[in-house]
Amino acid sequence: MNMRIVARLINLPENRGVRVETATHPMLLVRVGDQVRAFQADCPHAGAPLEKGVICAGRIVCPWHKAAFAVDSGAVQEPPALVGLRQYPVQVHDGVVSVGDEPISAEPTQPREDTRCFAVIGAGAAGAAAVATLKRHGFAGRLLWIDREHQPAYDRTALSKFVIAGEMAAEDTPPLLDESANIHGEVLRLDAIGKRIELADGRQFDYDAALVATGGNAHPLDIPGAHLNNVFVLRSREDAARISAAAEHATCAVIIGDSFIGLEAASALRQRGLVVQVVSRHTIPLAAQLGKRIGGALRQLHEDHGVIFHSNTEPERLDGHGAVSTVLLKNGNRLAADLVLMGVGVTPATGFIDGVTKAEDQSLVVDEQLQAAPGLWAAGDNVTFPWQHQPTRIEHWRLAQQFGVLAARTMLGDTQVYADVPFFWTYHFDKTFEVLGHPQHWNRLHLEGDLQQHDFIALLCHDDQVEAVIACAHPQAMARLSQRMQQPLGKTEALELIRSH
Ligand SMILES: Cc1cc2nc3c(=O)[nH]c(=O)nc-3n(C[C@H](O)[C@H](O)[C@H](O)COP(=O)(O)OP(=O)(O)OC[C@H]3O[C@@H](n4cnc5c(N)ncnc54)[C@H](O)[C@@H]3O)c2cc1C
Ligand code: FES
Repeated sequence: MNMRIVARLINLPENRGVRVETATHPMLLVRVGDQVRAFQADCPHAGAPLEKGVICAGRIVCPWHKAAFAVDSGAVQEPPALVGLRQYPVQVHDGVVSVGDEPISAEPTQPREDTRCFAVIGAGAAGAAAVATLKRHGFAGRLLWIDREHQPAYDRTALSKFVIAGEMAAEDTPPLLDESANIHGEVLRLDAIGKRIELADGRQFDYDAALVATGGNAHPLDIPGAHLNNVFVLRSREDAARISAAAEHATCAVIIGDSFIGLEAASALRQRGLVVQVVSRHTIPLAAQLGKRIGGALRQLHEDHGVIFHSNTEPERLDGHGAVSTVLLKNGNRLAADLVLMGVGVTPATGFIDGVTKAEDQSLVVDEQLQAAPGLWAAGDNVTFPWQHQPTRIEHWRLAQQFGVLAARTMLGDTQVYADVPFFWTYHFDKTFEVLGHPQHWNRLHLEGDLQQHDFIALLCHDDQVEAVIACAHPQAMARLSQRMQQPLGKTEALELIRSH
């Protein structure tokens, strides 16, 4: 193996990774005391430059979506990354740092003898993270990984940002793992008491432990005309491919609903050159969660790019011959539409499960270890879990993956509980908004920066305790907060932390 000089120890700060170019590929150097570690420089999730992240609490935290890796080994600690960082050998002699050009091969996990059969239903965020975890921990029993979609597990979050914008072909949506679900089929029934799964094609499987990671089903509104061509929902890669194909020949789109996904779709279709109109029951999008100032700034960003809002109303019916051509609103307005996207929420995909407690919204009620019944776990958009002692359901990609990891570990016998902070990101007109925490009861907003310039961090506090943080253009402070907010955080300390970046 070739060792090459890449840096001087004196030039490596202790609290920040440094990117160096080598003859073959860039590397991230991380100094801990007089020791230096070298890793691949870009995040294995979506390629963020890791030197722009932070190093804290023994972790390298990615600036983009807050994946975390152990500083000493590069092992993955938190998703969205599902694999660790490649690590390279390092020598330090007389203050000169050299790195090898071949990665250190990881010790393979020795499979434990196991006669159990585990089933993971769903190959989305939670299911893929669970399967990656079972494999990483050497599960050697029989694994049934079932999904009704044909393609390998993929990154759903890219659909509303890049695929329907025409920037990414649906088949190029980034995969989550090197492998796909080993059983293609729709689960029609899960008998939680008999521990049996039945597929639509008649196949049946008995399991010892099962994880339900089936997310949610997006439904169109039940109004006249909802069956017309070019009326869509957006959940799967196939949905996105159909929307993108329709957008190719469309001039005007109507989005029903001002959720994050509805607004991401508005941004994507507007950037594609369509006239985009958003119909919403509210005046200000997301005001209930983020407050009027932040919701208002998001609306303004859309309006500045030409999105037209129709507020405090809803569609009465859709008209057209074969394909939709008009949306008639309850306030009497008629909107021209070659394409309608209904972003009005999802129903937890749990209708096939018998023998468990379901919440009113049909999600599965789980305990702190994500167990819904003996031998049955659930993770992702379809669970109601105890969050700060309150039954809570949250639809976030990284949280679904964290739950997938946690469920897999508890299926293997660990006794962990969720101890992290929910994180969400969303992308509109080239601006990424990040949310940490779960804003519910906050009564004070502290704003640092400029909302109109989309360069801010806002603390949503309950009295003087930080409940959630929303930011745009402050990925490093958010990376540090993603670790710090695992413990209660007061406003004063949060402001000090933000101002130090
Ligand atoms: C377009 C879009 C963009 C998004 N963007 C963001 C974002 O930017 N940031 C963010 O934090 N969150 C985002 N989200 C939310 C995020 O994708 C979800 O929170 C996450 O996917 C939930 O993961 P999950 O595993 O519970 O469900 P999913 O990822 O939906 O996976 C469920 C899987 O189960 C399969 N399945 C369902 N029922 C059955 C059955 N009966 N039999 C067999 N298979 C079944 C489905 O085919 C699917 O593959 C976005 C969601 C969408 C739709
Ligand atoms: S690019 Fe690092 S977590 Fe997404």
